Amino acid sequence: MSSNSVTDAIRSRRSVREFTDKPVGNDQLSDWLEAACWAPNHRLTEPWRFIVLEHGGAKRREIAEMFRLLSYETSDQLPEPKRTAVADAAREEVLSAPAFVYAYSLIDDDEEVTKENYAATACAVQNLSLAAHADGFAVGWSTGRVTRLPGLASTIGADESWDMIAGLFIGEPERVPRAQRQPMEEVVTWL
Ligand SMILES: Cc1cc2nc3c(=O)[nH]c(=O)nc-3n(C[C@H](O)[C@H](O)[C@H](O)COP(=O)(O)O)c2cc1C
Repeated sequence: MSSNSVTDAIRSRRSVREFTDKPVGNDQLSDWLEAACWAPNHRLTEPWRFIVLEHGGAKRREIAEMFRLLSYETSDQLPEPKRTAVADAAREEVLSAPAFVYAYSLIDDDEEVTKENYAATACAVQNLSLAAHADGFAVGWSTGRVTRLPGLASTIGADESWDMIAGLFIGEPERVPRAQRQPMEEVVTWL
C-alpha cells in the first residue's frame, strides 16, 4: 500500500449531501460498515452501533415523514409556501439518499470511557467515509435535526442510552464541493 494513496484519499474526501440516483448496494454498504468497525477503540469496547434505513423501506419513509414534520414545526419563522417547501425538501432528502445510516456510540458508567467511545465511533465514521470515497461515493455527516427527531430511538430500535453520533447520507456525489484547510502553522506547534 502506498502511503500516498491513503493521504490522497484523506485529502480528496468531501462531505456531500447531493447525490446522483446511482444505488448503493447492500454488499457495498456492508463493506464500508466493516471498514468502520476496524477503527481504533480503547479497551476494545467496539462502541459503535449502526442502523441502516434501507432505500425504499418502511422505516426510511417513517423517518422521512418525521423529519418533514420537525422541519415544518421549526420553520415557523418562514412564510408559506416556503415553510412547506423547506419541510418537503427535508423529507425528500431522507427518502432519496441512496443510503442512509444512523451511527451511535455506547455510553459507559465511566465518563472517560464514554468519551473514548465517542472518539472511537467518530473514527469509525471517518473509516466508513474513506471506504465509500475509495469506491467513488461520498458521505454527508449530519448532527442536525435529522438526528434529533422526537421518538427517533424507539422508532428505529436504538437503545435510548446510546449517544447519537451522526445521520449519514451516502451516495454518488452529484458534484464534489471545493474545500480548504487553514495553514498547518495555525494548528501545529513544533517544540
Ligand atoms: C461531528 C461532525 C458533525 C457534522 N455535522 C454536520 C451537519 O449537521 N450538517 C452539515 O452540513 N455538515 C456537517 N458536518 C460536515 C462538516 O460540515 C464538513 O466536514 C466540513 O464542512 C468540512 O468539509 P469536508 O468534510 O468536505 O472536508 C459534520 C462533520 C462532523 C465531523
